[in-house]
Amino acid sequence: MKDSSVYSCSIVELPRISDGQGSITAVNNGIEIPFDTRRVYYLYDVPSGSERGGHAHKALHQLIVAAAGSFVITVDDGKIKRSFHLSRPNMGLYLPPGLWRSLHDFSGGGICMVLASEAYSEEDYIREYVDFLEYKK
Ligand code: TYD
Repeated sequence: MKDSSVYSCSIVELPRISDGQGSITAVNNGIEIPFDTRRVYYLYDVPSGSERGGHAHKALHQLIVAAAGSFVITVDDGKIKRSFHLSRPNMGLYLPPGLWRSLHDFSGGGICMVLASEAYSEEDYIREYVDFLEYKK
C-alpha cells in the first residue's frame, strides 16, 4: 500500500455499551477494523509538548484510539497532511501502511492505544522523512 493517501485513513466509530455504571467498547478482527490484530501497545506518561511517531510503516495496519485523554495525529502522504484530534475511547483512527505520522498535543493522562496488524519489526519502519518521500515516488 505504497500508494496510500491521507484519504485512505478513516475515523472509525466503535460500538459503545453503556449501562449507567460505565462503558465498554470491543474491537473485533474483521468487523470494526479491516485487519486482524496481532499486537496491542499503548503510549502513556507522555510529557506535555512531546511528539511521538515521526515515522511510516511499509506493511503495518493500525487502529489508534485515545483510551484516555486526548492527542492529535498528523498524517502525511508526502503531498497532503491531515490532522485528527482523538479524544473519545469509542473513536479510532484507522491507518493503513505507507503514511508518515506524528502524534502530538497529548493531554495530561493521555493514553494512546494502538491495535496493530503485525508483531513489532524494525524492518517495517521508515524513520527518515527523505527516505519516506523516496519510497512514495
Ligand atoms: P516507536 O514505534 O519508534 O515509538 P513512537 O512511534 O511512539 O515514537 O518505538 C519506540 C521504541 O519502542 C523503539 O525502540 C522500539 C520499541 N518498541 C518495541 O520494542 N515494541 C513495540 O511494539 C513498539 C511499538 C515499540
